[in-house]
Amino acid sequence: MIRLEGVCKSFDGVEVLRDVSFAVPARGTLGLVGAGGAGKSLILKLLCGLVRPDRGRVWLGETELGPLSERELMGVRGRIGMIFQNYALFDYLTVADNIGFPLARMQRPAAEIAARVQTRLDQVHLPDIGPRYPRELSGGMKKRVCLARATVHDPPIMLCDDPTAGLDPVTTNRIFRLLKDLQAQNDATAIIVSHETAYLRPICDAIALLDRGRLVFAGPTEAALQHPEVRAFMEAGVRPAQAR
Ligand SMILES: Nc1ncnc2c1ncn2[C@@H]1O[C@H](COP(=O)(O)OP(=O)(O)O)[C@@H](O)[C@H]1O
Ligand SMILES: [Mg+2]
Repeated sequence: MIRLEGVCKSFDGVEVLRDVSFAVPARGTLGLVGAGGAGKSLILKLLCGLVRPDRGRVWLGETELGPLSERELMGVRGRIGMIFQNYALFDYLTVADNIGFPLARMQRPAAEIAARVQTRLDQVHLPDIGPRYPRELSGGMKKRVCLARATVHDPPIMLCDDPTAGLDPVTTNRIFRLLKDLQAQNDATAIIVSHETAYLRPICDAIALLDRGRLVFAGPTEAALQHPEVRAFMEAGVRPAQAR
């Protein structure tokens, strides 16, 4: 469903992705891990066509992104639910209008938008906050609103960039569960970037480790945990989460 083949990307002569290839099968969940600056966010941006590779090819399902025009890419983005690393909520819109935004862009009827927004608000356990503004919310509430917005149009692909950065363990656990529920509900294929390896591992069926732009390993979780570097990374990530 999601595939990168031989992807290379440089900025100002510095190679930040080197020959990266991996695939996520339909309805799979890939945990993408690696140190800061490894290129994880860049991979998600390549997958929604916000950045184009210098070399290599990127597919979403049967669609190869490389030859697409900007207009065609807009259509492809409609199939993606993207949770950005920063919140990226619109400050000037209410929570309900933020969540309904993808549907409004698709020109869905107002009554349908209102109903779907309320369904998502209920699912993220924030049933009453539709009329409020993002600035009135805590970090965890904003993340849940992002999750609701990213999935309000039932996208078959979910890309989540560090969805629990800076959140407490209880909220982190809740967000990962919501992610899993929404993915299962939509039969979606997902990539989740996270350092919270203890929470990440149980909801992923595959893991990819990126090290300074180079893919160390990508494959089923069982096999990944046999790989010494992946195991070390996953276990190193467990400790701070438990110690908090
Ligand atoms: N638009 C850009 N312009 C210049 N450098 C970039 C750009 N996007 C990413 N990079 C660089 O690519 C590298 C990988 O970045 P990123 O994907 O954000 O890392 P990660 O998400 O793994 O922490 C970093 O060195 C970053 O500075
Ligand atoms: Mg990042």
